[in-house]
Amino acid sequence: MLKTANGCSTMKISLPATSSLQQADFTYGVATAAFQIEGAADSRLECIWDKFCATPGKIKDASNGLVACKHYDLWQKDLDLIESLGVDAYRFSISWPRVIKPDGSLNLQGVDFYVKILDSLNKRGIKAYVTLYHWDLPQHLEDDGGWLNRNTAYLFRDYVELITLAFGSRVYSYATLNEPFCSAYLGYEVGIHAPGITGIDKGKCAAHHLLLAHGLAMQVLEKNSPNSLNGIVLNVSPCFPASDSAKDHAAARLVDQRTNQWFAQPLLEGRYPALLDELDPADRPPIEAGDMEIISHKLDFLGINYYTREVVAHDDKVGTKKIYPDNLPLTDMGWEIYPQGLTEILVSLHQQFDLPPVYITENGAALPDGFANNQANDVERVAYFQSHLEAVHLAIEQGVNVRGYFAWSLMDNFEWAEGYIKRFGIVHVDYATQKRTIKASGLAYRDFICQRHALSDVLLNEV
Ligand code: GCO
Repeated sequence: MLKTANGCSTMKISLPATSSLQQADFTYGVATAAFQIEGAADSRLECIWDKFCATPGKIKDASNGLVACKHYDLWQKDLDLIESLGVDAYRFSISWPRVIKPDGSLNLQGVDFYVKILDSLNKRGIKAYVTLYHWDLPQHLEDDGGWLNRNTAYLFRDYVELITLAFGSRVYSYATLNEPFCSAYLGYEVGIHAPGITGIDKGKCAAHHLLLAHGLAMQVLEKNSPNSLNGIVLNVSPCFPASDSAKDHAAARLVDQRTNQWFAQPLLEGRYPALLDELDPADRPPIEAGDMEIISHKLDFLGINYYTREVVAHDDKVGTKKIYPDNLPLTDMGWEIYPQGLTEILVSLHQQFDLPPVYITENGAALPDGFANNQANDVERVAYFQSHLEAVHLAIEQGVNVRGYFAWSLMDNFEWAEGYIKRFGIVHVDYATQKRTIKASGLAYRDFICQRHALSDVLLNEV
């Protein structure tokens, strides 16, 4: 344990000096998403999450994204904060309803907001990792069917065409979509996320149109932004059967196919997994000729978001059931802390596919902060980062080409259906005053990143 200047006891993050994660060309960043931090200020259109939040019973604390972290007003201070953490990169998303008007033309006020952020990041030498869609579909498009309507994929392409031209060469990396699994499965199949629609057929239809939107956007990126690192971000979890029974094995396989394979295989191999043929024909996605070629457009990078594993048992009523077999510590989300799962899923994806360079685009935990007297001594979060960075290190040792890591999240924010109760930040946000305070985890992350630069200087001098 160390004591920082403000008396807050903290733990260090450290890795072997020879680790690839200690090299100066390994990218470290922090991540956010528009709806979770910005607030709805100015001329942003209503999005599906605004409507979902306004529907009673959908958000645990009955909150919404109208103010959030007020980042729309406080962005300059937030960029100062990011710079003070010593990170190489900042991952954030563009709010489609902020930059595109209902007639499909650019909303220049919204565009200007992001251009200022991009210019400021570039001035500070921080690489901009831009996500083009992090779940905030304009509500008027949902009124026309949202991701169930194939045309939404083409409207996404048109938005990407305009916004990439407006941004020019300011962006270091573009991710088309964040976690299409969550958009499709949580939003259109089980309905616990916006827009709250249910049905296997709906989930698979939305997923297909999201994948198509991704492929169409990749074509635009190749044309308008050939020098940026262009790809997509998937959430993945290794899936294990709860027992040796054939039924539990089948259940684990189903969850793996549904979450990991349903997106990885179309993107990386141009085909859906075997589960496709097992679905009732009425539930299968509406695949048109040429779609799979568009979807499997070559990626410059694959973003991986990792939080936990899945241990799955067969359930007679609902098919699959999540099990917690080993009494592992849980985060405030109820997710098992299972760092080796990050090594396991990276290695298994590497063995299965010819992967492009991989970035861990999100990893982090909602955990108690013990925030008092302007300090958050979140030692459990420091330990979480330590163990998961070690897991990335082990994956690289086994041949996976991981090039960067982004902590989720820069600051506490709107955690979707969980509202503001769950805190993922390495910076604490007091929502009443909008005061930001760097937590012990933020300090440890900063010190780890900075000592890495010092360390590579030493290694260079030794040569
Ligand atoms: C996600 C989202 C984030 C969440 C985070 C914690 O990718 O799921 O990108 O917006 O806040 O994952 O649940």
